[in-house]
Amino acid sequence: MTDLLLGQVLSFTADPFVAGPEAARLEEGLVIEGERILAVGPAAKLRAAHPGARVTDYGQRLISAGFVDAHVHFPQTAIIASWGKRLIDWLNTYTFPEEMRFADPAYAAEIAARYLDLTLAHGTTSVCSFATIHPASVDALMTAAQTRGQRIWTGKTCMDRNAPEGLRDSAQSAYDDSARLLARWHGVDRLSYVITPRFSPTSTPDQLEALGALWAKHPDCLMQTHLSEQIDEIAWVRGLYPSARDYLDTYEHFGLLGPGGLYGHAIHLEAREKDRLREVDASLIHCPTSNTFIGSGIFDMAGLMAAGHRIGLATDTGGGSSFSMLRTMAAAYELGQLRGHALHPAELWWLATQGSARSLRADHQIGNVVPGLEADLIILDLASTPAIAQASARAETLWQAIFPTIMMGDDRAIHATWVNGHLIR
Ligand code: GUN
Ligand code: ZN
Repeated sequence: MTDLLLGQVLSFTADPFVAGPEAARLEEGLVIEGERILAVGPAAKLRAAHPGARVTDYGQRLISAGFVDAHVHFPQTAIIASWGKRLIDWLNTYTFPEEMRFADPAYAAEIAARYLDLTLAHGTTSVCSFATIHPASVDALMTAAQTRGQRIWTGKTCMDRNAPEGLRDSAQSAYDDSARLLARWHGVDRLSYVITPRFSPTSTPDQLEALGALWAKHPDCLMQTHLSEQIDEIAWVRGLYPSARDYLDTYEHFGLLGPGGLYGHAIHLEAREKDRLREVDASLIHCPTSNTFIGSGIFDMAGLMAAGHRIGLATDTGGGSSFSMLRTMAAAYELGQLRGHALHPAELWWLATQGSARSLRADHQIGNVVPGLEADLIILDLASTPAIAQASARAETLWQAIFPTIMMGDDRAIHATWVNGHLIR
């Protein structure tokens, strides 16, 4: 089946942080053949070249790559928006008790389905998620994504200390379970396994060493963890790893620093840490709604981008307070303002699509609307509420028309979603 979609098709020819807003391009349509984007261009030309295509005309709606959320915890779906705690208390009070429930595979399957349905409704077609320590929680999300045809990443969260009984593995079982899940899922359909030590405080040096060894055996896998999110956490890490030069060194020392490394938050970095992350071209994942919600601090987007870091954008559900990448772009904008730097809407949109795909080393597969990429697309209504409609009605440029949706949009802005070449909602 060949599909021709018409609308305002937004794509990027380059990184707008480098090339400026001109890196964004608008076309009138695109052709999907099977699971991939075959062509993008003027409507008349596409109609003439593909006379047999099924045509869907989305009018003035915006057609974009689906959003890519580069750091989430699907098991925290049900505890999103829990009041009043900072990181360590929040983990102990809300997160760990909820993650304990994933010992029940039926509960894991229920939440995995609920999570993917919620995020798809918000226009997110790919996620990179932490699971829980339970292998069945990985099976649950992989199966739910496979059913929906989605490209996702997930891995068993490893913790062998400083977590409650029932939520701890060991260095050996973390290695064995991760290796088994990797063999079962990595590269199956659109699914990828991610090696996942939660963070240094909940792993012994033995566990970090074991996971470093596993990563060395499977360097094509990504590795995800947390880094320098809150000041108290950094002090705790210093106490637990007295010989480490800094927080990053607790990973680096055990082979857990590399180009496929994804470091969530990365707010309070020292100069050496920034240099090393930059040298190895690791990915920093910015989680703006989480950083304000749990009171973590302000990520230095402008400074780190200017220094050439690879950066993705993420909700960090449920430390983050929204499933929406629109809300997440808005929060990134607001935090940028607090640092005296107004991120351009083109930069925000790029971060939520191609930038996050690039942070996951998948920008050759997803995150843009160009020929050859997989057809994960969202169709947005740029006047989805009365408040947004009246603001965008005054727009004279594309970005003025889009910005009210970035700042005030939610799932009502997502008119339709295509995953892997199929209209799914
Ligand atoms: N650090 C370690 N685990 C977590 C988590 O689940 N959420 C956040 N925001 N930070 C963490
Ligand atoms: Zn996280």
